[in-house]
Amino acid sequence: MAPDPDRRIAPLDAVPADTTYLVTLRNGDDDPREAVLVRTDDGVAGWLNYCRHLLDVRLDKGSGAPMRDGELVCANHGAYFEADTGYCTFGPCEGATLEPVDVSVVDGDVYLTDDDYAFVETGGIDDGSAGPSPTSNFEF
Ligand code: FES
Repeated sequence: MAPDPDRRIAPLDAVPADTTYLVTLRNGDDDPREAVLVRTDDGVAGWLNYCRHLLDVRLDKGSGAPMRDGELVCANHGAYFEADTGYCTFGPCEGATLEPVDVSVVDGDVYLTDDDYAFVETGGIDDGSAGPSPTSNFEF
């Protein structure tokens, strides 16, 4: 069955090997959620873009999450998460697991295959505010 073009996220080549690719998803009428694509030995994995220590902290703050030896690093307190399993191997939430987002690669493109989410756009959530708030994490 041909993949649904509305669920195409990006060419696989656009997902970097040393950091994350940020996207915005939506689950029904809920507020949008951010997710990251990350390279794995098998291809690509998807995870919600929120640390498991403080759940409102974004791993990718808009310019790619740091990675070390195949693990995503939360810049806030240094938790490490395996790119392929989401498992936290070190840090204040050691033993926790990132929330998965199902994706797959078809003919060189990454598709959202998670029935819980619809693809909204590449990049982070546009909160519609007139400018950066005093608590904004955005980096330009
Ligand atoms: S918020 Fe991520 S390690 Fe503390």
